[in-house]
Amino acid sequence: MLTNKSSPPLKIDKLTVVRSGNQVLEDVCLTINRGEFVGLVGPNGGGKTTLLLTILGLLKYRKGRIELYGRTKPSSSTFGKLGWVSQHASNIPKNIKLTVKELVQLGTLNSSNMFWPFNKEQNKQVNEAIELAGLKSVENSNVSTLSGGQRQRAVIARVLASKAEFILLDEPLVGIDRESRNSLMKFLDKLCHEAQKTILMISHDIAAIQQASHRMIFLEERIRYDGAADCFPDLTALANLRGIEPVHEDSHSKKTLYQLEDMGGKQ
Ligand SMILES: Nc1ncnc2c1ncn2[C@@H]1O[C@H](COP(=O)(O)OP(=O)(O)OP(=O)(O)O)[C@@H](O)[C@H]1O
Ligand SMILES: [Mg+2]
Repeated sequence: MLTNKSSPPLKIDKLTVVRSGNQVLEDVCLTINRGEFVGLVGPNGGGKTTLLLTILGLLKYRKGRIELYGRTKPSSSTFGKLGWVSQHASNIPKNIKLTVKELVQLGTLNSSNMFWPFNKEQNKQVNEAIELAGLKSVENSNVSTLSGGQRQRAVIARVLASKAEFILLDEPLVGIDRESRNSLMKFLDKLCHEAQKTILMISHDIAAIQQASHRMIFLEERIRYDGAADCFPDLTALANLRGIEPVHEDSHSKKTLYQLEDMGGKQ
């Protein structure tokens, strides 16, 4: 199949993933379009990281199909388009002495340029990424001296320097304070609106991700909700979507499985 400019960064059809004999993802269908900021939420063990690792090609799937930019197999046209910020990526050990600029420079390395001096193009990519991440004033500082939010922005800048267009982030909000969290969410929003990046971000901070993302997905083995972030179901509706039964009889007085169509929910 030919890649063309209109192919979405991600198209998943009926994906089933089994890990150590247990089915972790079932029948997952998901398309993410260019420039979207999608929040991926769900309970511990719900399969969020598994989904990201499968998209990245690190885990095999039992059934289904994954297309990246219209391709089901890695090719020169998709090379370098994906960037991944793993869980705890910003927990860089204190004994590693690395400046922000050096960390971001690492993002430009690949097998073809690894042992050559940095060229003009690489320097340009690094400077642009640092600028975009708002880290110019600390570019020569040691990464370990940065705040949690700055460190997160630095690891994301490393991915930006690689020219990735579709960025997958696993829990970047863990362990950072409120101010850092707010600045990180604004930065991610800017990446979509000003730099036309596409973002799929896992978080347990539903309130924060609802504020910043365009669309939210609730994953618990299957996709239980996929729709606009501002229509994300409240706790009672979510319990229904997840098949959690009321324990107290009067819980029925709360809203029922209600206007799911209105909320854009899928089951
Ligand atoms: N390396 C592994 N080998 C086998 N099973 C695994 C492995 N890693 C995770 N699993 C299982 O896969 C399921 C989904 O785990 P996953 O890490 O994808 O969930 P998650 O939604 O990312 O959870 P969390 O919010 O805790 O990070 C869980 O049942 C987990 O036990
Ligand atoms: Mg996880």
